[in-house]
Amino acid sequence: MEALSWLIDPISKGWTLCGLIIAIVSVVLIVSSRRQKPFPPGPRGSLSLGRKEIWRQYAGWAKEYGPVIYFKSNQLDIIVLNTDRAVHDLLGLRSKWYSDRPTSTMLQLVGQDKALTRLRSQDPRFSISRRIAREEMGGKAVLRHVEAVETSVKVLLKNLFSTPAEFRKHIRNAQSRSIMKVIYGYTVESDDDRYVRIIESWMQSNNSAARPGAWLVDSYPFLRFIPHWFPGAGFKKYALERRKSTEEAISKPLSWAKSEISAGRAYHSFVLKQLSSQELDAEHEDIIKFLSGTMYLAGVDTVLSAMLTFVLAMSLEPEVQKRAQKEIDDIVDSDRLPNIMDRERLPYVNALIKEVYRYHPPAPLAVPHSVSRHDTYDGMFIPKESIILPNIWAITHDESVYPNPSKFDPTRHLAGDKTNSTMQPDPRNFIFGFGRRVCAGMDFAELAIFLQISSILAAFNIFKERDAEGREIVPEVEYTGGIVSLPEGFGCRIVPRSEAKDVVLWDS
Ligand code: HEM
Repeated sequence: MEALSWLIDPISKGWTLCGLIIAIVSVVLIVSSRRQKPFPPGPRGSLSLGRKEIWRQYAGWAKEYGPVIYFKSNQLDIIVLNTDRAVHDLLGLRSKWYSDRPTSTMLQLVGQDKALTRLRSQDPRFSISRRIAREEMGGKAVLRHVEAVETSVKVLLKNLFSTPAEFRKHIRNAQSRSIMKVIYGYTVESDDDRYVRIIESWMQSNNSAARPGAWLVDSYPFLRFIPHWFPGAGFKKYALERRKSTEEAISKPLSWAKSEISAGRAYHSFVLKQLSSQELDAEHEDIIKFLSGTMYLAGVDTVLSAMLTFVLAMSLEPEVQKRAQKEIDDIVDSDRLPNIMDRERLPYVNALIKEVYRYHPPAPLAVPHSVSRHDTYDGMFIPKESIILPNIWAITHDESVYPNPSKFDPTRHLAGDKTNSTMQPDPRNFIFGFGRRVCAGMDFAELAIFLQISSILAAFNIFKERDAEGREIVPEVEYTGGIVSLPEGFGCRIVPRSEAKDVVLWDS
């Protein structure tokens, strides 16, 4: 009734009409003033986007058009931010509006829209999941997981000793083993573990379902209602199959953890702690289910990417490797491996790790953000719901910030080093993402990467592969496309350094 009161009160009616007209005129003025602002510059017309290392193509466009570029792909507005300043101004200072994720009908169809990486920022699950991730894996909480990571590093070293040529598989399994232990309390016993297999197959489907602009149904959501027999509806069958694998991947390890808890055998894992919490109800359990699956999903290939970049760089830069090994040998006795307490006494190793991050950021375009309102920046119009891609690779290869960016040089990150007088910006400010979406596992990633890299350096030498005539083969530096980008296959020789270390490593 109240809504209709202006119909029977002429004075109030006059004011209401006046107010309405002012409101409409203001909206029209605001919209038209925004419309007068141009979209950011960028290529127009039908685009041929390279699938591999597309961040290089965007960085090339940025040289032509400027740091903020705009283009349309399958009806979606895409904005790529190519400099530290643009990323800081928008994803940092305006993170309130720039921390959303794009909606994706495809991800809803495959049942992955509840994964933390995909949650909309207004979804109440978002802040709950971020809080839990912080409590379990952030800051000092990460120290609870040191033992699990150290155990998996030892297995990694033994595997590298036995079958060094399979280093890619061993490094991947090491990270997968740590995460399964920390999240579910589950010990991965073999290279062909059933739960790991299930989750890995889920990860592959996530990668292909998550590419922005890759699916027509994301641009035209009504297509979800076409019948499955309709020509071109193959995506529905694909989505149905993937939906089953999502359910399996996130439910099975959790059910296993629950049965361990009931039997009183559980390890003090992320899941154990959360399932024992006061807040537990069906909704909270569902949040835990998706969050734990997402931690695995987001935490394996990212770390693998950094580790493979490390191995590749060591085979290319023997002098860097020797200097890092000397630093470790000077402070770590030969009867033990480096531990987390050694970290602050290893400045060169820390600089080497920063250089690994800078040389090739594991997620070169982060995870796509979305902006929740119309905005203007530097006189350019940024439409609501645009997909925002921070080009981390372009930032860490900006020659004006990191001179000679294709050179792997840890001394960039050391103040007053004899080879480099000024310290260049810490790449950790970029490679873990931005604003409210900054990586929820970065402290855990840093722990795992430090322990793996320092232990490998202590125990092994990494050399280039040799051909049949004994000549060294220089590996190509090439990376895969995708949200997480890995070095393409390459070979190297991983050789144990000393007999003293053998005793500790292989017999323990
Ligand atoms: C070197 C290793 C890693 C790198 C470079 C990395 C990088 C990133 C980046 C760039 C994002 C997107 C941030 C944004 O959208 O602005 C992200 C998100 C995320 N990462 Fe990591 N990550 C790493 C390791 C890990 C690990 C080990 C875990 C878990 C154990 C993890 C869990 C997550 C989660 C859950 C998100 C989603 C956060 C959200 O959407 O709110 N990451 N990471």
